[in-house]
Amino acid sequence: MTNYDVIVIGSGPGGYVSAIRCAQLGLKTAIVEGRDTLGGTCLNVGCIPSKALLHASHSYHEATHNFEKMGLITSNPKIDFNKMQNYKNDVISQNTKGIEFLLKKNKIDWLKGWAKFVNKNRVSVDEKIYDAKNIVIASGSEPSSIPNVEIDENRIVTSTGALSLSKIPKSMIVIGAGVIGLEMGSIYSRLGTDVTIIEYMDHITPGMDMEISKNFQRVLKKQGLKFILGAAVEAVKCTKTKANVTYKKSDVVTKLETEIVLVSTGRKPFIDGLNFLEIGGELTDNGQIKTDKKWQTSVDGIYAIGDAISGPMLAHKAEDEGMAVAEVISGKHGHVNYEVIPGVIYTTPEVANVGKTEEELKSAGIKYKVGKFSFMGNGRAKAVFQGEGFVKILADANTDRILGCHLIGPAAGDLIHEICVAMEFGASAQDIAMTCHAHPTFSEAIREAALACGDGAIHA
Ligand code: NAI
Repeated sequence: MTNYDVIVIGSGPGGYVSAIRCAQLGLKTAIVEGRDTLGGTCLNVGCIPSKALLHASHSYHEATHNFEKMGLITSNPKIDFNKMQNYKNDVISQNTKGIEFLLKKNKIDWLKGWAKFVNKNRVSVDEKIYDAKNIVIASGSEPSSIPNVEIDENRIVTSTGALSLSKIPKSMIVIGAGVIGLEMGSIYSRLGTDVTIIEYMDHITPGMDMEISKNFQRVLKKQGLKFILGAAVEAVKCTKTKANVTYKKSDVVTKLETEIVLVSTGRKPFIDGLNFLEIGGELTDNGQIKTDKKWQTSVDGIYAIGDAISGPMLAHKAEDEGMAVAEVISGKHGHVNYEVIPGVIYTTPEVANVGKTEEELKSAGIKYKVGKFSFMGNGRAKAVFQGEGFVKILADANTDRILGCHLIGPAAGDLIHEICVAMEFGASAQDIAMTCHAHPTFSEAIREAALACGDGAIHA
């Protein structure tokens, strides 16, 4: 038996970051992971592999669409999908090994196997028993399906199966126009698959600022993705070589045949086998682990963070909670500002947001002004064929304080952080507008949108 100050269950971005911070704060720490490699969903079957395939498929698109325009003559670029998969696997391996190195460097023990609570201070991992004063559940999430759709990760796949298909399918039906559906749909559409996305709502990316959502859909449609909106998938049945998808739209039932079905209808907390409920743990009505504001569960000394609790299922939200809970455990303050958590969709163009949407401000009765700037007025964006998209800053009508920012365009996922920092400092749009931005950069579009909140953008 070994005694620890902290045992963290799960080595995804929430878990490993929390373990490292615990160790940095002088706590004797172990992490439990049952996969063969560290990093959880994000590194093994999520964020990182999808970014590799997004990069590869975007590069193919550039080679087939834009190289010639720049005088780069390549004779008919072809895809070697096996090699592309090897490249993706290599990216995964570099990253998961990197986490292993970080754990060793911080003297964190990796307890290999799946953790099960024996009591509030004791877990068993592969029949071995470990004790800890504090335990952090960072067990993440798993795909959630819909009735009458049985996932086999072969013909009916989640993002996990979609990242490792044996060949590029001729056709794919994606159920759900959320982040996973649009990123994976984009990858295969660029590689030549005929992609149709069926979405229950009458718009894509529910919860996103509507103006961005509509523009985003227009851009994706232009790229070749097909959308069936306001339609509920009711069943998927497989034949030997195909899948038949049944959906209902305005009371009309339609059947479509396809080679692959991607189910991207959301994710749910992964707590199977933990024995957490049996030792007195409680869940919310949505099936997430119930915690207080300091990530303490209903069991004293057991904390929970990341996808397993409420809030957006985002790696960076989990990381922030991981660091904060480590601080709470070591008697420090530990804080996460949930008002400033950016969201990014890594398509081309990228889409990013932080803070309130126009719809949220309207329904809260907050008076706001809008500053917008199109990337068509940004020299750098035009030079790289990415003039499509715009930045939209929402600022308080009275104080000019930035309340939200929504953008679609080149490097949106990086640009958004200027606004995140500004919001953390309680900055006004004028603060951004008065800050010198290097020319020519994409970030000038942010400044121009901030200028548009005042006397006007220059290049509009
Ligand atoms: P999601 O919750 O983003 O979208 C699911 C969509 O499926 C919704 O639009 C919903 O209306 C639709 N839907 C549900 N049932 C349906 C039915 N029967 N027929 C048609 N449409 C239906 O879920 P998604 O895309 O699976 O992502 C899961 C989680 O992973 C999200 O929380 C997301 O934020 C996170 N994630 C984040 C990434 C990023 O930040 N870049 C990348 C990948 C995942």
